[in-house]
Amino acid sequence: MQVLVVGGGGREHALCWKIAQSPLVDRVHCAPGNAGIAEVADCRPVKDDDIPGLVALAKKDGIDLTVVGPEVPLCAGIVDAFEAEGLKIFGPSRDYARLEGDKAFARELCRRNRIPSPSFWTFEDFSQAKAFLENREEGPIVVKASGLAAGKGVTVAENREQAIEAARDSMEKKRFGDSGRRIVFEEFLEGEEVSLIALTDGTTILPLEPAQDHKQVFDGDEGPNTGGMGAYSPVPSVNHRVLSQIESQVLLPTVHGLRRSGEGYRGFLYAGLMMTHSGPRVLEFNCRLGDPETQPLLMRFQSDLVPYLLHTIDGTLAELEAPEWDPRTAVCVMATSGGYPGPYKTGMPILGLDGIETGPDLQIFHSGTSRRASDVLTAGGRVLAACALGENVAEARERAYSAIDRIDFLGKHVRRDIGARER
Ligand code: AMP
Ligand code: GLY
Repeated sequence: MQVLVVGGGGREHALCWKIAQSPLVDRVHCAPGNAGIAEVADCRPVKDDDIPGLVALAKKDGIDLTVVGPEVPLCAGIVDAFEAEGLKIFGPSRDYARLEGDKAFARELCRRNRIPSPSFWTFEDFSQAKAFLENREEGPIVVKASGLAAGKGVTVAENREQAIEAARDSMEKKRFGDSGRRIVFEEFLEGEEVSLIALTDGTTILPLEPAQDHKQVFDGDEGPNTGGMGAYSPVPSVNHRVLSQIESQVLLPTVHGLRRSGEGYRGFLYAGLMMTHSGPRVLEFNCRLGDPETQPLLMRFQSDLVPYLLHTIDGTLAELEAPEWDPRTAVCVMATSGGYPGPYKTGMPILGLDGIETGPDLQIFHSGTSRRASDVLTAGGRVLAACALGENVAEARERAYSAIDRIDFLGKHVRRDIGARER
């Protein structure tokens, strides 16, 4: 089988690495890929949002299965376009990808199906948004651009003044372009965050193991939100009881609610949850795997991933047994370019990669890298991550940090506390 993975980040590197191990697969192709992906897949210079280009590539290369990593092509309808050409593709169709691409839509779905979530208020007019804040009691509130903003469209405002500024940035100053014309204010929730990603064919739901991401750029959850600075899995506090609570209160009503409006959601369904004193609350849905959650999850996923993808597409997920998981802990630590998530420089040579011995217990997954002759260069905000397995979180952390510390490039930044709250 020829498989095409769409995307070029760390999540796609982990997907290519995992899919390449499948006995069902002859060759993995990736568009556009990166310098790390090129070690496990044929990289093709087609951008991940060039849907006609990707359709043409899949036809020309005789691709049997396409797997989409990022949200942008999913929200733009890549699945609809491939299926219209009779091409097999993994992911939700455009209508269902709105779950991620339109936060107001996702919040309405929660409200209609009584899925536990923070209170929310949607605005399209800045003066109305400002008036709302001025009439509300002083205190923290969360401000979100309704559309896609690469994980950067959320501000946790400590007070009214910051909330007004965030709303102004999004609605008047157009910081996120069209994505920020409409905003959602949300009740501020406290607790531990958990990412729970499930495979679903619209009827059967197969949750993966829980993971925790670290979104803020600095240690101690300080600084602005990023796409994710590191992640680990499993999350011990999410035990069987909590997991079944999340399944029954969040995943089931979401999948059933979506089924009412068509043939059903197929793909990875990502629930970003806050575990509050009164149970799980949905912070966001994504229509894909998380980045960097995928990296530790796939290090632990011991079964062949490809049959799960194929059965999801065919609507026959119920025929498969639950996958095998490595019981050990995986920790993934990201190295980013100095300045990220603000402006940063690229093109810095990355040193130290050759000295690292990778294997089943340690992988370096590339996010934003490119190759120039024999050099690997930085090419994005998130550059690469070390992902390691250990008997416990301390051992996995020690392995991941000792690997990431041997890699260097100008401006490199690493959060030192990934997984540190777990012992
Ligand atoms: P999102 O992209 O919607 O998951 O938001 C990004 C991050 O902002 C989350 O991972 C949380 O850390 C924080 N956040 C989002 N919504 C809330 C909320 N209602 N209460 C507290 N923190 C939130
Ligand atoms: N790591 C968060 C996300 O993928 O949205």
